[in-house]
Formats: sequence, structure tokens, C-alpha cells
Amino acid sequence: MENSLELAGITKAFGRTGVLADIDLAVQPGEFLSLVGPSGCGKSTLLRIIAGLEHQDAGQVRIAGRVVDRLSPRARNIAMVFQNYALYPHMSASENIALPLKVDRLSLAERLPLLRYLSPRRPRIERDIVEEVGKVAEALQIEPLLARKPGQLSGGQRQRVALARAMVRQPSLFLMDEPLSNLDAQLRVHMRDELTDLHRRLGATFIYVTHDQIEAMTMSSRIAMLDGGQLAQIGSPAELYERPASLVVARFIGSPAINILPARLDASGSVLVGNLPAGLVVPGRIAGPVSLGLRPEHVRLHAVCERPMPMATIRRSEHHGADRLLHLDLVEDRKAGLIVRIPQDDSGRYQPGETYGIGFAPEKAHLFDGDGMRMAVTGTAPARIGAAA
Ligand SMILES: Nc1ncnc2c1ncn2[C@@H]1O[C@H](COP(=O)(O)OP(=O)(O)OP(=O)(O)O)[C@@H](O)[C@H]1O
Ligand SMILES: [Mg+2]
Repeated sequence: MENSLELAGITKAFGRTGVLADIDLAVQPGEFLSLVGPSGCGKSTLLRIIAGLEHQDAGQVRIAGRVVDRLSPRARNIAMVFQNYALYPHMSASENIALPLKVDRLSLAERLPLLRYLSPRRPRIERDIVEEVGKVAEALQIEPLLARKPGQLSGGQRQRVALARAMVRQPSLFLMDEPLSNLDAQLRVHMRDELTDLHRRLGATFIYVTHDQIEAMTMSSRIAMLDGGQLAQIGSPAELYERPASLVVARFIGSPAINILPARLDASGSVLVGNLPAGLVVPGRIAGPVSLGLRPEHVRLHAVCERPMPMATIRRSEHHGADRLLHLDLVEDRKAGLIVRIPQDDSGRYQPGETYGIGFAPEKAHLFDGDGMRMAVTGTAPARIGAAA
């Protein structure tokens, strides 16, 4: 309970533009929850509401079981780390980190250049602060940098100083808004590890906004996806990957992205791609357009087809280390392409220009209705279509 977070019915509009509509979310103590979604969907707005930097039109924010809606950002004791670090350029790293503690513990007069020397308690408080800054700096391994100004630090070092400043008040809830997006690719990977490690060591609750689905997949205990002002889905990375609740989620999670093939349900409930049966049956649904989702690693290419099946021609083959990515065009529908991930293979198979049957294990297929919502596949055609190549 200590550092849990609950949102109940959070609603927010800017003028006439609705941004968040009735968001309910419960974050467990110590959880690492990533908040993802397309640009402009309200991720930053939701974080700012939790932090108290923005006020919701309706709904409640509860931290550790307590309603905090009337508390100032400072009183909520939340750490917020932004993408642009927001360090003071004229202060050294240690002064930047110490600032929140000074604001908390010293009066305005005690912080003024001349008056401060009149305060009898100031030296003791400042000694404590130096000690606490030292501890945080040690945890983040930035002790050698403490005397430097932000302008003398690299992007990753600045990010660590910003983190240190957020950590120094020992908050139990960390809100991070794309904290790594200003870093180069290599440093991002490194900081990803550091943040995961920090989360483990602190045992604090992290809410982490990112555009980067790989970051979300690798770091989080759960991912919440926001779309159109609502939570499209919340679950473990594996749940979102294996059972996306909608086309939007399916498309967002996974790299390369899931293949979405335009398809159709016929009157018997059979799924057709082009005019050919794809091997899936969904009885009891009204005939009409659907979308068939196949992850790149779940497509099977058949050189020999035992029955009519959708065919595709390889346009390009890319070397990706251990894997190869094949880009194919559907023969039936030239506009629809798909990407297939196969293990690297030196037998000379799968050359551009070759045509294969498109198959898959039925339990690996995702089917979405005309509104983009996941459909249960209630029946399947024989488990394997065609013979393996
Ligand atoms: N202060 C504001 N006044 C008016 N509109 C705003 C304000 N802040 C945000 N918005 C609008 O609210 C919507 C949500 O913005 P928000 O910054 O929360 O999105 P986001 O999901 O963080 O996007 P991004 O991924 O690009 O950072 C956007 O349409 C934005 O233009
Ligand atoms: Mg944002």
C-alpha cells in the first residue's frame, strides 16, 4: 500500500479538446509500469495530473491509499524526471541535486547569501544535506562529476544528475516522461539497464512514459497503452504481445510491426485472404471485413501447397544478424505486403522473386473485427495448411 497509486475516473479536457476520458488505473507498490501510446494521446498530461502539476476535471488520484488531489506537487513527494532534465545551468551538479532538500529544510532567509550566516541551525542542516547528496551520488556513480556545471556534462551524465535530484527526497513514486529520448542509441541501452537496476534497488514504484516500445517491453512489469483518451489495454509485456486487445495495440507492440492482412469472413465463418481460405474459422459471426494479424516470426512459408492458400512473392531479403527479414508482396493483393522473420539460413532458399504459400499455426493468428477489436477464434481448420517447405 505504501507506494501504490490509484486513478479513478480521471477526465481532462483542454478547452473543448477532450484528452483523457474516465481513466481507471491501479499501480501496485514497487511496480514498473510503462505508459505508451501515440503522440498527443495524453501520456504527459496524465503524469502531470498525478504529480499535481495539472488539475483533472473529474476523478481522483490516490497515493498510498490517500486522496492527494488537494496536495501541492511538493507535498505529494513524487519524483518527476523529464526528457529535457531541466537542470539549472549556473549551478553545479551537487547544488542542483541539493536544491530540493534546501527548499524543504531551510527558510528563504536561511538560503539568502548574507542572512544565512545568522541562522544557528543552518550549518547542521547543510552538513546533513551534503551527506545525503553524497549518498545519492554514490548510488548513481556520479561523485566525480559533482563539482561540474550541467554544460560540462554529457547527455547521459546530465540525465543521471537529474535522476539524483529526483531521488534525493526519497520519494516512493517516480514519474518519468521519456527520460531517455535525448540520448543516443548506445547510451539509451546503457541507461535502460541502469534504470531497471535502480528500480530493483529502490523498490519504488515507477511510472515510465515512452514512445519506444522496446523500452516498454524490456523494462516494465506491466504496460498500459493509452489511445483516444482511454486505456486501450493494460497487461504484462507478454500479454500485450501475445493477446493484443485491438489493432491499435497489436500495431504498437512488436518490432518489426505485426503484419495486418485485409481479410473477410464468409457466410460459413471461414476467414478468406483474397479469395483463399486462410485456415481459420469463426462461426457465429456476421460475414464482413476483418483483419488478420500475424507476427513476423509466426508466418510459415510453404513451397508446396496441399490446398489453395494465399501466396506471396519475396521482394527483398535483409540480413539482421541471427535472423533474416523477408519482405513479401501478396500475389492476390499487390498492395498488401508482409514481413517474415526466419532464422539465418545458408541453404540459398528464400531468394527475391520466389513465391511461397502463406501459412501459420492457427493459435498464433490474431483476428480483429471491423472496429479493430480482437475476435476470439473459436474454431480452426486443420492445424497445418500445406506441407512445410
Ligand atoms: N496546456 C495545454 N493546453 C492545451 N492543450 C494541451 C495542453 N497540454 C497538452 N495539450 C493537448 O493535449 C493533448 C495531449 O497532450 P500530451 O502532452 O499529454 O500528449 P503526449 O501523449 O504526452 O504526447 P507526446 O508523445 O507527443 O509527448 C495534445 O493534443 C496536446 O496538444
Ligand atoms: Mg508527452
